[in-house]
Amino acid sequence: MSASLATVSYIGATILFILSLGGLSNPESSRRGNLYGMIGMTIAVLATIFGPRVTGGGITLIIGAMAVGGAIGIFAARTVKMTQMPELVALMHSLVGLAACLVGFANYIDPSVQMEGAEKTIHAVEIYVGILIGAVTFSGSIIAFGKLSGKIGGSPLLLPGRHFMNLLGLLVVAWFGWQFIHSASVSEGMTPLLVMTVISLLFGIHMVMAIGGADMPVVVSMLNSYSGWAAAATGFMLSNDLLIVTGALVGSSGAILSYIMCRAMNRNFISVIAGGFGTEGGKPAPKADGAQPAGEVVPISATETAELLREAKNVIIVPGYGMAVAQAQHTVYEITKFLREKKINVRFGIHPVAGRMPGHMNVLLAEAKVPYDIVMEMDEINADFPDTDVAMVIGANDIVNPAAQEDPSSPIAGMPVLEVWKAKTSIVMKRSMASGYAGVDNPLFYKENNRMLFGDAKKMLDEVLVALKT
Ligand code: TAP
Repeated sequence: MSASLATVSYIGATILFILSLGGLSNPESSRRGNLYGMIGMTIAVLATIFGPRVTGGGITLIIGAMAVGGAIGIFAARTVKMTQMPELVALMHSLVGLAACLVGFANYIDPSVQMEGAEKTIHAVEIYVGILIGAVTFSGSIIAFGKLSGKIGGSPLLLPGRHFMNLLGLLVVAWFGWQFIHSASVSEGMTPLLVMTVISLLFGIHMVMAIGGADMPVVVSMLNSYSGWAAAATGFMLSNDLLIVTGALVGSSGAILSYIMCRAMNRNFISVIAGGFGTEGGKPAPKADGAQPAGEVVPISATETAELLREAKNVIIVPGYGMAVAQAQHTVYEITKFLREKKINVRFGIHPVAGRMPGHMNVLLAEAKVPYDIVMEMDEINADFPDTDVAMVIGANDIVNPAAQEDPSSPIAGMPVLEVWKAKTSIVMKRSMASGYAGVDNPLFYKENNRMLFGDAKKMLDEVLVALKT
């Protein structure tokens, strides 16, 4: 393939990646968005393998590596459970970081890369920054994987003087950067490069260890952004325009997503990154007076739930992580279909951080063929709860916790939540009184107009469906 054809293919792939991101912004166009992304990536890979830069044995090596990597990818995609997706994503981000580091070192010691003057300085900066971002992404993502999979505890590790340590690390990295850029030979530059890599790895570990369990969603999307910038830095090192553009797209979209999630959780982005903000790290939050929320917990049966639903005119369903665990989305769809046939207005209220990954609930509901037009964002539906007869909460907890509004001392104080308690009756479906991801007690369960339908969400919804139909 000629150089000009490779460039044209890269431009085509870039356009497809942009269209892909555009498509992913809406559930209805997301399949098309994914398709654009797949076609773009195929073009990009083919144009790279058969482009002017890869020759002879290189092609065999790349195809061999792709076969091994692809096989591992297919195996992981087939075996990983939907609820384990965030940890898989974190692990994938770590690979991007590792690749950026390895490419940086390989590029630095490559004897065929000969540069002088300003060009040499710019290339040295590219290598230094690329390895720095790559190392932070690599170690940070490994720790995020450990935390999300429960292999490492969720509590934030708050070392004394941690901000000072970070600042000192930054100064040392800057000083060694100066040494690296002005080094006369590869062996002279290797020491500052290695010292910086070690500091960056430690910084990545420290940064994510200091972040509490409830803030992990932001960390995952932030590491997604970092992995994009690491790829862009690799693109600069290799003078590959497509990698620069793709990395920048991932980096900026990840940054925008982190910002949106911070807003959804009422978190300050800088505070999340600084760590240890507003969380007790996934343990039940100790109450000042050690008291339970006021009120009584009133259980309800599946038959009574079906009766309430049958008599309702307006129903809002709020799904959460428990619906994903129980894989109850198909029964949810059956119930929705049944109620809509009886002319009951059923809609869904989706919190931006419901479940364990962005769009988790939308994906599950789309899989179960719930129509998109009744799936509403939190901001679109929150004002409608006072006019709702039944708000059915399926395996959700933190996202419907009134303490976020009512208790300024709560670790989730200020987080916007779905106001299900404003409905005539709210029914919470979960197995026990256990707390959710943030480890906070939920006063909703004790409210007068709330009922608890205890049990596995799938099992209970199956019973509700049977009761509805008989
Ligand atoms: P959670 O607050 O985690 O609550 C889920 C509830 O589901 C639990 O209280 C659990 O109670 C119940 N449950 C679990 N398995 C169940 C089953 N088989 N049947 C019925 N219920 C079941 O979930 P949420 O309300 O969706 O809130 C999400 C939380 O995760 C937020 O704190 C958010 O910050 C965090 N988070 C979000 C993300 C993203 S990006 N979405 C990523 C990481 C973390 P029982 O044990 O009593 O059944």
